[in-house]
Amino acid sequence: MTSDPPVRLAVPDDADDIAAMSRELIEHGLPWSWRPARVRNAIRDPDTNVAVVRMDGALVAFGIMEYLEADAYLALLAVRETRQRTGIGRSLLRWLEGSAQVAGCTRIRVEARRDNVAARTFYNELGYHEVAVTRGRYSDGVDGTKLEKWLRAAPGP
Ligand SMILES: CC(C)(COP(=O)(O)OP(=O)(O)OC[C@H]1O[C@@H](n2cnc3c(N)ncnc32)[C@H](O)[C@@H]1OP(=O)(O)O)[C@@H](O)C(=O)NCCC(=O)NCCS
Repeated sequence: MTSDPPVRLAVPDDADDIAAMSRELIEHGLPWSWRPARVRNAIRDPDTNVAVVRMDGALVAFGIMEYLEADAYLALLAVRETRQRTGIGRSLLRWLEGSAQVAGCTRIRVEARRDNVAARTFYNELGYHEVAVTRGRYSDGVDGTKLEKWLRAAPGP
């Protein structure tokens, strides 16, 4: 990837594509919890940022981050399989981290399936530390790995 992908805030019209991508890439084999209505609510929620990358009109990546006072929680992040390992996930996560920092958050938390080596390696590479294992976290019995990253204080005025 030679240039940064075009990250922007999602609009309600993005919800169907985001929900479909969540089902395909994150919730496959699990109950589909991020359906279009839930995604649309997240897009409208002032305490949540839903960010997307579209290329040639098609959804390529999205991330959903919730702001909970000092903590931000990265609920979902995915990059279309054909575009993975091109730096889009890194750019999208950095964009979300920047927004969290501006919102006054000092820590970002995220949880990944323990068997999702790609995601854990990705988060480790981007400065996230594994802090706990949650036994049987997912409905198919797989453990979860909790990760977190402390953000540097935003520069003063
Ligand atoms: C995890 C995910 C978001 C990474 O997105 P991506 O755009 O492919 O990641 P990047 O290209 O920005 O990779 C950044 C670095 O992370 C690491 N990384 C990313 N994918 C990796 C993989 N499959 N195996 C090992 N390391 C990986 C590498 O260090 C990579 O740098 P490099 O390519 O220069 O070696 C993507 O694999 C994905 O969407 N997976 C399916 C959904 C998912 O599991 N989401 C996370 C849980 S919610």
